Amino acid sequence: MKITMVGTGYVGLVTGACFAEVGNDVLCLDVDAAKIRKLESGGIPIYEPGLAEVVKRNVAAGRLHFTTDAERAVLFGTVQCIAVGTPPGEDGSADLQHVIAAARNIGRHINEYRVVVDKSTVPVGTADKVRAAIAEELVKRGIKVPYAVVSNPEFLKEGAAVEDFMRPDRVVIGSDDAQATQIMRTLYAPFQRNHERLFLMDVRSAELTKYAANAMLATRISFMNELANLAERLGADIEEVRKGIGSDPRIGYQFLYAGIGYGGSCFPKDVKALIHTAEAAGGTLPVLEAVEQVNTEQKHVLARKILKRFGRVSGKRIAVWGLAFKPNTDDMREAPSQVLIEELLSNGATVSAYDPVAMPAARLAFSNLKGIAYADSPLGALEGADALAVVTEWKEFRSPDFQEIRARLKTPAVFDGRNLYDPEEMKRAGLEYYPVGRAAARS
Ligand SMILES: NC(=O)c1ccc[n+]([C@@H]2O[C@H](COP(=O)([O-])OP(=O)(O)OC[C@H]3O[C@@H](n4cnc5c(N)ncnc54)[C@H](O)[C@@H]3O)[C@@H](O)[C@H]2O)c1
Repeated sequence: MKITMVGTGYVGLVTGACFAEVGNDVLCLDVDAAKIRKLESGGIPIYEPGLAEVVKRNVAAGRLHFTTDAERAVLFGTVQCIAVGTPPGEDGSADLQHVIAAARNIGRHINEYRVVVDKSTVPVGTADKVRAAIAEELVKRGIKVPYAVVSNPEFLKEGAAVEDFMRPDRVVIGSDDAQATQIMRTLYAPFQRNHERLFLMDVRSAELTKYAANAMLATRISFMNELANLAERLGADIEEVRKGIGSDPRIGYQFLYAGIGYGGSCFPKDVKALIHTAEAAGGTLPVLEAVEQVNTEQKHVLARKILKRFGRVSGKRIAVWGLAFKPNTDDMREAPSQVLIEELLSNGATVSAYDPVAMPAARLAFSNLKGIAYADSPLGALEGADALAVVTEWKEFRSPDFQEIRARLKTPAVFDGRNLYDPEEMKRAGLEYYPVGRAAARS
């Protein structure tokens, strides 16, 4: 099948490469000429495990192509997937300008049947807007061309995106066009040979399903963070509580960790957008409003612990391990590290940071800030540092040499935003240990 991906970011590039991997012919369009140039010259603009190999293999096989030529892109694919960004607008609603621009472009050049697929995370009713934008362009051209608009929200996780796409938990398709439904079934058949994972529904339910999934996951995180803060006040241990409740299959262990708040390009904006959607529909979502409020507060927890320990941090140097919003990605969007680092710097501290892959993205994200040095190893970040803050749970931080940490830090204090370490072991190593939702440990 011939497929066009409109938008070649985290979702568009992974989706395009994976569709090519199963034998389709894929053309990826982007308005960012630098990104397309990089891809055309064999580079990969983002870090995503396994992606470089899939892209390379399919470019070599002649099944994956890149372009900035919008007309060529519309004429290419029977399926036109829109995977452009939907950032939050000023009022928290999803900003649909890129989605509508992509739809208009399809309307300007379409000349035979096309299935237009909304893959971006978009509010309920967007498929109608996409349909209307294409129709307006066709009216301007004075022609009639058949097309269908379907919703096919993407559930891949950054950090495991290729694996998630190749072996999806579910494929949600919202469609009211029989021909388009059949094409979508064919498109996804190679990804569900083991058993059917396709949920076919009406368009609006499909659009809402994506927001509901992210809102539920964000709720679990904020709930655990709220309980973690209570556990600290009560002298209980959130890690014990987590195990105690996660063992109930109705609750489960996944996504049940306390920490320093959710970040990334999806949860924060999608929670905001769903709250906005509810308001626009004349309702409210008080649970989700609280989820967002708890998350905003939680991003300050580590800085508060550091300030409490030292009284003031002016002139102190804090080592920060992990900058990406989660492991296995270089994505810095809404990363808790940003809140921590900005708070430390504004209190007069300096920061020496290390992240296995996100340092180039972090340099861009922090380009306006002074007082951050970038180390080339975890231990290197500790040189001359007064304390260590662990922000992202990369695997390489899970079992560090605690004696080395103690030897290098001026004050042997570790602030752990991810509860990676055993408080008893930290005590034995002579370290002060400040986790989240559990008692601090000092020898
Ligand atoms: N990142 C994720 O983990 C994830 C997961 C599921 C769903 N989503 C959703 O998928 C959508 C895309 O997210 P992303 O993280 O891939 O974004 P991204 O910012 O990484 O990529 C979007 C790309 O679209 C391009 N673009 C913008 N307007 C364009 C246009 N008119 N024509 C062609 N290209 C255009 C941009 O230049 C950019 O390269 C969002 O709605 C997001 O919420 C993201």
